[in-house]
Amino acid sequence: RLEHMVMVMGLHPQYLQQFLETNDHLLRSSGALPYEYRSYIAIMAAARHQCTYLVHLMEVQFLLQGGDREWLRGLDHVPAKLRALSELNKLLAHRPWLVTAQHFKNLTEGEPSTRWQHSHLVQVVVLLCHFHSIAIFCHGAGVNLELDHPRAHAFHTTTSTSPRSNTSSGAATPKVDAKSGRKSPASPVCVHTAVRFLPCEIAEIGDVEVLMERMRKLQEEEEDVTTEERSRRFEIEKEEASHGLLPVSGPVGGAAYFARYVQEPDFSYQDFAKRDAHAEIPTYRAQDYSWDHAFTVMSSYYNGVAELLDEKYQTAYNLTYKTLATRDNVDTTSLRRAIWMYVHCMYGIMYDDYNYSEVNQLLERPLKLYIKTVSCFPEQTTRAVYDGFWKQFRHSEKVHVNIMLLEARMQVGLLYGLRALTQCVR
Ligand SMILES: *[C@@H]1O[C@H](CO)[C@@H](O)[C@H](O)[C@H]1NC(C)=O
Ligand SMILES: *[C@@H]1O[C@H](CO)[C@@H](O)[C@H](O)[C@H]1NC(C)=O
Ligand SMILES: *[C@@H]1O[C@H](CO)[C@@H](O)[C@H](O)[C@H]1NC(C)=O
Repeated sequence: RLEHMVMVMGLHPQYLQQFLETNDHLLRSSGALPYEYRSYIAIMAAARHQCTYLVHLMEVQFLLQGGDREWLRGLDHVPAKLRALSELNKLLAHRPWLVTAQHFKNLTEGEPSTRWQHSHLVQVVVLLCHFHSIAIFCHGAGVNLELDHPRAHAFHTTTSTSPRSNTSSGAATPKVDAKSGRKSPASPVCVHTAVRFLPCEIAEIGDVEVLMERMRKLQEEEEDVTTEERSRRFEIEKEEASHGLLPVSGPVGGAAYFARYVQEPDFSYQDFAKRDAHAEIPTYRAQDYSWDHAFTVMSSYYNGVAELLDEKYQTAYNLTYKTLATRDNVDTTSLRRAIWMYVHCMYGIMYDDYNYSEVNQLLERPLKLYIKTVSCFPEQTTRAVYDGFWKQFRHSEKVHVNIMLLEARMQVGLLYGLRALTQCVR
């Protein structure tokens, strides 16, 4: 059961079909990993992003698959082998660049009863990334309510500015008390979202015309740019992404509710520019370990899933109706590419052949804020952030953006995760 989410994703039936097929395969196909392990891994992944909706859904799934109810009491009640995945889950969810071959090495060594096989770990990485990305979609589109909740589709009204102390008060209720159900657009939009904006150096693209003009111009411009120049532009974009777009709130409230399924619940995304200098991580160059590499690893260990994931990704990446707000027959390639690249940029993945100026030209600041919130701090997505971008656009177009974020973010996790796993095998 994924109803509420399916309803929202159903705005894009072509993608929905790919998605459901993949989801079904991951949870129900024959394969090495026991079924209850799969749904438990899903719970762990969803809990990392504090997605009530998905945690609940997967708990039900877990029990349906004959899982031991005792396990739902938390990580202390599951086999050590499963518990050992916590660290990997945490890093893949928030700072995938920290995943190393050593993490996988540790998982493949030790007691026979807790030891993982490489082929199983490929499946684990795929499952974790898949469910992280679903949690991202649910938060990003406001599908964050519990299954039995009367309001299927709503946003938090505030970003949690609540300090750590609030979460320790046993607050088991996550912030789902949004009054602004999406079906009632007249409801007041919260303005105190604790969001800091930098002064804007480019005009907001309030107007579809302006956006279209920029896309046209970018297409015409054909000028040779050196690799150094591209690299510099990537750095500019990366640097910019780490300023001003951040909600200022501290650790997310409501964490206590999910605490039983995670370790270090406060661990979250960290901006590149804000990291300690000595902890500097080299830029991930996409050509060094590309999607093709990841694809090969997946197909050699994990039957059928590489093709499904690849098709799902391509469907999301290629999806277009050639429309933009009220306009028809628009080539949106550059816009879609910019969204994709921006997500990868925030996770330090650089494409040598991409002109990062495009990101700045095409993504208005409220859109960047939305992208950053959803892909880095999904649980902090508010209605105001969602309403803030592309005011003239249709809801389905925003959901389209959200699908791209789901896929782009999933790919980030798979690239980092499978690269480290590959290094471990060597
Ligand atoms: C691997 O295991 C060793 C021994 O338990 C531990 O000291 C080390 O921190 C672990 N490394 C990683 C990356 O988890
Ligand atoms: C997506 O577009 C690329 C490039 O145009 C094409 O090669 C690929 O077949 C398309 N994939 C799907 C699933 O439509
Ligand atoms: C990159 O983008 C900038 C700004 O839009 C533009 O001036 C430049 O010509 C572009 N370069 C390439 C190779 O497209």
